[in-house]
Amino acid sequence: MSFPLNRPANLAVFASGRGSNLASILNAFPSDSQEARVCLVASNVASAAALDKAKQAGIASKYHPFPARKKDPAGQGRAAFEKQAQAWLEFHKIDLICLAGFMRIFSAEFNEHWQGKMLNIHPSLLPDFKGLHPQRQALEAGVKEAGCSVHFVDAGIDTGQIILQKRIPVLATDTEESLAARIVIEEHVAYPEAIKQVLAGKFKVAEVGL
Ligand code: GRF
Repeated sequence: MSFPLNRPANLAVFASGRGSNLASILNAFPSDSQEARVCLVASNVASAAALDKAKQAGIASKYHPFPARKKDPAGQGRAAFEKQAQAWLEFHKIDLICLAGFMRIFSAEFNEHWQGKMLNIHPSLLPDFKGLHPQRQALEAGVKEAGCSVHFVDAGIDTGQIILQKRIPVLATDTEESLAARIVIEEHVAYPEAIKQVLAGKFKVAEVGL
């Protein structure tokens, strides 16, 4: 399978939290969109607001535990999540996974299986400030610009090919919270735009290693 498809793409969104990026994706791709439909929302957090948003929109919402690495050194919990997730993804014939505030790291096998078909959004101008607390990292580094990046997921953490970025100035008065609040506004524009570019076939799967 490669993009563009000659039918609306089936999207899955994986989220661990409030789901504001999910909401922006749902706004950009309503259920009658000819470009894409969100068919599945999955979470590792049973109480995630993202799951409620999915239910309100009449979209399949699924939960399965995915323990943090520290509590799952042998990766059994991760393997169980991935097995369940793969079953959901196949059932809904998912073409593209969008990680949107999904706070877990998949195995190399899962990442490889979905290579070129799984995106993530990160609130920094990658390759700067990967991982946790990127806004805090940006303030501590004293950079003049911050922003967000949408990228393909590869074997690393926040390292995959960048699809697009949005930049904003860092203000002298910025705190971690104020910067995060201004960046997330850009995320809500960036993610749907990046999805459209991928679905339009702007990034050939061959370019990302398949
Ligand atoms: C976003 O800033 C995203 O970039 C980061 O986690 C946050 C999730 O926000 N990875 P939301 O759940 O989409 O509101």
